[in-house]
Parts: sequence; C-alpha cells; structure tokens
Amino acid sequence: MCGIVGYVGHRQALDVVVEALRRMEYRGYDSSGVAVLDGSGGLAIEKRAGRLANLEAALDEDGRDSFKGTAGMGHTRWATHGRPTDRNAHPHRDVEQRIAVVHNGIIENFGPLRAELEDAGVDLLSDTDTEVTVHLVARAYAEGDTAGDFEASALKVLRRLEGAFTLLFTHADHPGTIIAARRSTPLVVGVGTDEMFLGSDVAAFIEHTREAIELGQDNVVIITADDYRILDFDGEPVEGRPFHIDWDLEAAEKGGHDFFMLKEIEEQPLAVADTLRGHFTNGRIVLDEQRLTDQDLRDIDKVFVVACGSAYHSGLVAKYAIEHWARLPVEVELASEFRYRDPVLDRSTLVVAISQSGETADTLEAVRHAREQKARVLAVCNTNGSQIPRESDAVLYTRAGPEIGVASTKAFLAQVAANYLVGLALAQARGTKYPDEVAREFAELAAMPELIEKLIGRAESVRELARDMASKSTILFLGRHVGYPVALEGALKLKELAYIHAEGFAAGELKHGPIALIEDELPVIVVMPSPKGRAVLHSKMLSNIREIQARGARTIVIAEEGDETVKPFADHLIEIPASPTLLQPLLSTVPLQIFAAQVAQTRGYDVDKPRNLAKSVTVE
Ligand code: G6P
Repeated sequence: MCGIVGYVGHRQALDVVVEALRRMEYRGYDSSGVAVLDGSGGLAIEKRAGRLANLEAALDEDGRDSFKGTAGMGHTRWATHGRPTDRNAHPHRDVEQRIAVVHNGIIENFGPLRAELEDAGVDLLSDTDTEVTVHLVARAYAEGDTAGDFEASALKVLRRLEGAFTLLFTHADHPGTIIAARRSTPLVVGVGTDEMFLGSDVAAFIEHTREAIELGQDNVVIITADDYRILDFDGEPVEGRPFHIDWDLEAAEKGGHDFFMLKEIEEQPLAVADTLRGHFTNGRIVLDEQRLTDQDLRDIDKVFVVACGSAYHSGLVAKYAIEHWARLPVEVELASEFRYRDPVLDRSTLVVAISQSGETADTLEAVRHAREQKARVLAVCNTNGSQIPRESDAVLYTRAGPEIGVASTKAFLAQVAANYLVGLALAQARGTKYPDEVAREFAELAAMPELIEKLIGRAESVRELARDMASKSTILFLGRHVGYPVALEGALKLKELAYIHAEGFAAGELKHGPIALIEDELPVIVVMPSPKGRAVLHSKMLSNIREIQARGARTIVIAEEGDETVKPFADHLIEIPASPTLLQPLLSTVPLQIFAAQVAQTRGYDVDKPRNLAKSVTVE
C-alpha cells in the first residue's frame, strides 16, 4: 500500500503534490518522492528514504528552483519489493530520464519483464518491481508501432502487466499530461477548474476540489489541466462515475469512518489478497527472501513459532497448518517466554518469528537467541527493512500496508494468510504434499478475500449486537481447533479496545474449570467449526454450547451459513460463508473485530488509541 498523487493545472505543482503527500502519509512512510515537469522539456525528480520531512529537507537543500512547473506527481511508499532506500524510492525513470513513474501495488510478472530488459542491455537502478514499467514505456515510445505516441506506448505496456497496480506516467515531451491506470488498487480523479488531480483517495485533493470521478477496474485516465479522458486497456473510451465529496479532511483520510481501525477492518480482503499475490508462481510457493537452501528447509525437523500479542494468536493458527500440511512438530511460544526458557534448538530447528512492526523487542530477542543456537529463522513481517527480517534467514512479507489503529486487524489477518503460505512452503520442500495438492490448497486460500469481503458487507447485525452488549462487564469466548486462537484473538480485541473483562477458552477445557464462571445472562461467544469438516469437532462444539446454555449463558454463535444444527442453541447467530476448516480463522475473526470496535465506540472510547497500549513495543 502506497500513496499516489498527481496534478496538472495552473499552480506550482510541487506545493500541491507535497501537501497531498502529507495527506497520503498514512498509506506509507518508508520513502517519498516527487517529479515535476517544467513545461519546456525538463523533468526534475527528488526522492528520499524515510518520512516526508526527509524529502522536504532534501528539496530545501538542493533548492526548489528546478522544481518550477504546473504538472507533477508524488509518491509515499510502503515497501514491498526492495528495501526502503533512496534508490528504491519512487518516482523511477527511464534511461534517458525523460519518463517517470510512480506505482502502488505489485507487478507479479516483473521477474520475466526485468529479465527481458536486462537481456536488451537496460541497466535497472532499483530492486523494485515498479522500475520495469518505465523502461518498457520508454522502449515502446522509442520504436515500433507506438513510436512517438505516449498514450499508445503506455497502453501497450499496461496490457502486459499482471498483478495489482495504480501507475502514473509522465513524459518530459508531454508536460501537460499524466497518464494513469488502475487494476485492483485505488485511484480517484479530482476535477477542479483548470486543474485536475489524481490521488489514491480523495484526501489527496479534497482541499482543492470536492468533485471527483471514480474509475472502474482496468481503467486508464489521461488528465490535462482542463480535461480528462477514461479508456480501457485497449484504448476504448469508458465512463467514470462522477461523485461529490461530503467528507471533511479528517473523515476523508479514514475513508469516511470515525476511526482508522474501522477502515483497516474493511481493507482486509485486499490485505489478504496482496499477501498471497506473487507467492505462488510457476506452480511453487515462493518466499520474498530466502537465504536458506531448499536442502536446509528439507532438513528442518522441528518448528517454533515466536510472537507477541495478536501476532502470537496468528502463530497458533500456523501450528495447525504446518502440522497438518508439512507433518512437522510445532511449538508456539510467547516471544517473551521463549527467550528465557532454555528452548532446545539446533540447526535443524526452524523458528518462525511473526511481527507486524518487525521491531518488537521480545520477538527480536527471541530471534537473536534462536540464531545464537544455530536455528534457522523465518520472519513473517509487515515492515520491509525492519530489524527482524534483517536478522532472519528467510522472509515472507505480509502486505497489509501501514496499520494505524493500535489494535491489530488487517495485519493480523495478513499474518494468518502468510502463515498458511509458510505451511505450504514447508510441505512443498519436504514433499509431504504433491505439487497439485499445494496448488489446490493455494487456490482455496486465494478464494478467501472474496468471502471476507462478503462478510464485511453484512457487518450491521454484528454492530447491533455489540451495541446491545456494550454494558456487559464480562464476555467469554470459546473455540476448538483453529477456532481456539480465534476465541483468544476475539477476547484480546475486546479487552484492548473496550476494556471489558474477556477471556478465550478452548471449548473442551470448559468443563475443567471455566464452566464455573457461567451464570445467568453471561454472554459467551462461540466459534463453531464447519459442519462439513471433521464431524467430531462440530458435534463436540454443539455439546459445549448446550452445556453453557443449560447454565443460563446467552450464546452468541459464529457458524457457517446453512449450519441448521446449531440454530436451536444460538441466542444470536452470526453467519459466515462456508470455507475449508483450516482456513476459517480468516473469516471467523472478522465479526469479532467488528464486535469489539463497536462495543468500544458505544462506550465512547478512542478505538484507534486504546489506553496504555503502544503500536510497537520496543522494550522488553
Ligand atoms: C503490541 C501491539 C499489538 C501487537 C503486538 C505485537 O502489543 O499493541 O497489537 O499484536 O505488539 O506487535 P508486532 O509488531 O510484533 O506484530
């Protein structure tokens, strides 16, 4: 997830673009950059790693005089391919330095495209997937049937790209024009008077205009100061949808929600899809970085998963996946306990360290301890270039983008998705799954974002229930198998956001103590496994619900659509789409996040900044 802005008009583009980038920084802050066209063939670019302030300092230092011009674009990056360095910052430009590009998303086929360019003698300057696009446009512009035609050259390249992308191209020879395209990532057009804007969302230009155009999938838009044209990738004209923006600036940054967290819950289908994207190519699961040989992976005979907070709960899900698919013993440890326990590790142990920030001190220390004992470390991390992936032997990045809400939602779901990929990667390396089985499992995973989207669309009934429950002082959560970590995560969300006493239990453990807590009207949220999965799991859960209902509890049941057997025992039913048992946490977690957020809102709390908590805890 990155922030993108573009401007063509009558003002100094640099000022408009830098201000817009400030509004987009919540979408990424690994690096930022601008490109300005001076109108007489000059293209000035400045880019810097780190926050926008670094870019502004560089502009001050180098002098802003060379950035005079009324067309320009900018980018604020959340790194996916390539470290967050000056070199990898956008905009990228072609060899002749005439064309520039900024990009949000992932070009899945950048590998073969890069090889093609290298074979043709093009020197690529960055490690990004983005840079190939600008060289391809330059080559299309230089020769062949699209020579000299900027629009046709861009279209020709767009048709070759796979993945998800918003791309903006400028050309020094066409200073009053920006060509932009989108597939599966956001791009909105702002229509001003004698000026046009482009942004990842309306917050980029809301100060200047409230008239906007929504683009469809696989649309190209060509803006000039006084006009815009929308095309499909074949160059056929299509219609955009004009709309008026009523939000104020603050609401615009939050996608119209009161809190970032609510927006982040809605971004989960994309966070999961992006995390899966590009990790299954040519019939194989691939990691982002692997400084281990395939033989090293085959030699693994034991796995430890270490993490904190929500990341730890995602690790509990990983245990089920790795044991089931890769037939390896897995222990899941709180990172803060692991370090001081004297765990038995050697070079055939794999430690999977899961961390959104990549900076959590407890997890980092666990990684260091593991490496001292010669264990191999695989990081599952959301922050490119952070410490944990840097100190690991292999890395799988979750691509949730920056998470601003302190309580993890989209980063958690992306971790769960990434952990399934780890399970499949180990199964593939060890040969415990045939390639066609890995492909089948991946296809089932790839179908999940659509189901998550469906679920989010039905959130209102969960909110209603949450408003009803907001005055309760205790709520319990029960789950079995992969539903158990979901119960723990549901309880954690409620504790951290709504400050309600909440506890998650393994349903089978209920009778060994927690059942004593059940009294009249006590709400208990139960995560039911799929009735189409292992019958024993389902029937045991049904018995557990009966036990608590018989003791007066108010049962709130999360169950698969069409699960009729559970209905008589559910005082409230939350239905989720059918999915394979192992993958169900990607769905069953979502209503629990919505529930906790709404209880907190009803109680009048700041959902984004719960008391006493920090987003990233860098002390032990
Ligand atoms: C903090 C946050 C939690 C998060 C945990 C681990 O406690 O408040 O939401 O789950 O750290 O963070 P990490 O960045 O390592 O995933």
